[in-house]
Amino acid sequence: MSNIESVLNETRVFPPPEAMVKQANVSGMAAYKAMCDEAERDFEGFWARLARENLLWSKPFTKTLDESGAPFYKWFHDGELNASYNCLDRHLKTQPDKVAIIFEADDGKVTKVTYKELYHRVCQFANGLKSLGIKQGERVLVYMPMSIEAVVAMQACARIGATHSVVFGGFSAKSLQERIIDAGAIAVICADGQFRGGKEIPLKPAVDEALAMGGCESIRDVVVYKRSGSPVAMNAPRDKWWHDVTQGQAQDCEPTWVNAEHPLFILYTSGSTGKPKGVQHSTGGFLLQAMLTMKWVFDYKPTDVFWCTADVGWVTGHTYIAYGPLAVGATEVVFEGVPTYPDAGRFWKMIQDHKVNVFYTAPTAIRSLIKAGGDLPKKYDLSSLRILGTVGEPINPEAWMWYHETVGGSRCPIVDTWWQTETGGHMITPLPGVTPLVPGSCTLALPGIMAAIVDETGQDVPNGQGGLLVIKRPWPSMIRTIWGDPERYKKSYFPEELGGKLYLAGDGSLRDKETGYFRIVGRIDDVLNVSGHRLGTMEIESALVANSRLVAEAAVVGRPDDMTGEAVVAFVVLKGHRPTGDEAKALAKELRDWVAKEIGPIAKPKEIRFGDNLPKTRSGKIMRRLLRAIARGEEITQDISTLENPAILDQLKQTL
Ligand code: PRX
Repeated sequence: MSNIESVLNETRVFPPPEAMVKQANVSGMAAYKAMCDEAERDFEGFWARLARENLLWSKPFTKTLDESGAPFYKWFHDGELNASYNCLDRHLKTQPDKVAIIFEADDGKVTKVTYKELYHRVCQFANGLKSLGIKQGERVLVYMPMSIEAVVAMQACARIGATHSVVFGGFSAKSLQERIIDAGAIAVICADGQFRGGKEIPLKPAVDEALAMGGCESIRDVVVYKRSGSPVAMNAPRDKWWHDVTQGQAQDCEPTWVNAEHPLFILYTSGSTGKPKGVQHSTGGFLLQAMLTMKWVFDYKPTDVFWCTADVGWVTGHTYIAYGPLAVGATEVVFEGVPTYPDAGRFWKMIQDHKVNVFYTAPTAIRSLIKAGGDLPKKYDLSSLRILGTVGEPINPEAWMWYHETVGGSRCPIVDTWWQTETGGHMITPLPGVTPLVPGSCTLALPGIMAAIVDETGQDVPNGQGGLLVIKRPWPSMIRTIWGDPERYKKSYFPEELGGKLYLAGDGSLRDKETGYFRIVGRIDDVLNVSGHRLGTMEIESALVANSRLVAEAAVVGRPDDMTGEAVVAFVVLKGHRPTGDEAKALAKELRDWVAKEIGPIAKPKEIRFGDNLPKTRSGKIMRRLLRAIARGEEITQDISTLENPAILDQLKQTL
């Protein structure tokens, strides 16, 4: 913990523009404080009021929070609702012809669907899923490109009470297989392929490969949306085309009313062990936070065009593409491609073309766009923008300033939103009409979110001192359990060392002495954040070691990287001799490709170094902190007297 200290000494402060404060849904600090006070005074009453005001219940709840099974908390649990009904049906009378989704394909083709059309498409597909015999509570794996159909697939599952588990299209067949098995999925919804950056990337072959690996016998159906039109193998009767499944289906589908605690989705994310965790979310609590944060943090206005650039394969794409924007009735942009194609002005051109008002992206995208064309935003009319957002990792003040000035014309507040797959929605973030901004700080917790910083024993630490970020009270959109592994849920998030009652976020943080603003310093566990994506070092180690032909042992650590935030460095001991020169380069390439196949290209080590051994203590424990220092090119100042094989350090210092 001693190394958790302020890495920034930022003194610039940007108060919210007067005009923004006046019109904001949460207007001014006093309004924010009043909500925080309400939550302090009457915690359950606060959440009950919001849940009643925002969600449509088929059966109203009578009990707000059930803590009897803590830390397995239940919210609104005798109430019933349907997420898809809350996102679509509620708008049918009020705004059927409003555009719900503006879809821009990789090649620039734009397709729009209204709320009424989206409703019909979801209903038809939901009826199609029902015709396949898919039932409430069954798990459906979604492996789709960014598309209207990806949203339709998720909403259709929600409509019939099936639990979706979306797997990012960049994950490999092996990752897909592991998730199918862990979730016990009974169907896969995928596309033949997708287009990104002018290239066609196949998807269906990865599904075939995953299912051929074995263990996936639970899968009864594979529904394939025709996107690329390239020939794919269709394995009858298992595989069916999306258009055949929807053919002739009714355009209305009575929603399946589910309990508020019904699992809306499972989303896999990395933790400190080799096995990804299936984060299980609820229906009522999740949807509530999605709606509230659309209103509070993105200051949703009915005339807004909202654009979240995340992929639906990540939690950001769940909360701020598939559910939140639709629940509040927004018009949102969904983009298939990449920010640098056909050139690094793509985002800015799209903001101009679609008159985007609220734009939400990742610091890593901002940094890469600065590098690829820092002046490009000036070529476009970005005057429609009123709020900018970031998520996924701390934003460095230089990137923040560029985003603020060059993209936002110095007039748009930036909401630096801290949250996680497990939290379901924003937790610590500025509000655009409330919070004076400090570059690099996610500022203050939302009303009702009891965030704090504690030491290793769970005691509060004073402002200015680093510690562990925790949430002291449950909140509606929190993770409910790790699918199939409640013990791991308890151990990971409510550890006994902290008293068993605090939610441990896994981030190191500190609060400013005067303002109490939070700053996130980085993960405290073996999880890396590469381009805003969470990667477990153990996961990459297991992937490397799974190459039993080549690899004897491997250790993976992170090091800071200007572009991706952190980069993966792998230290590998091969079976046989330690390679050098061209042989080492060829083997490093082979292993990088291997990791891409085992997990996905995002997990590829940036650097691989070979040694005859890894630095170990006499008891055989790998000394990772030494490897971290080596990966960073730092002098080794640590005590190495317990090291069994000090000579190995010189070998590992050598780059290829
Ligand atoms: O370390 C924090 C970082 O991303 C982690 C959560 O990753 P994931 O579950 O993949 O969700 C990302 C999208 C919500 C956190 O534990 N993180 C996320 N947002 C921020 C952040 N770090 C600093 N500032 C943020 N705004």
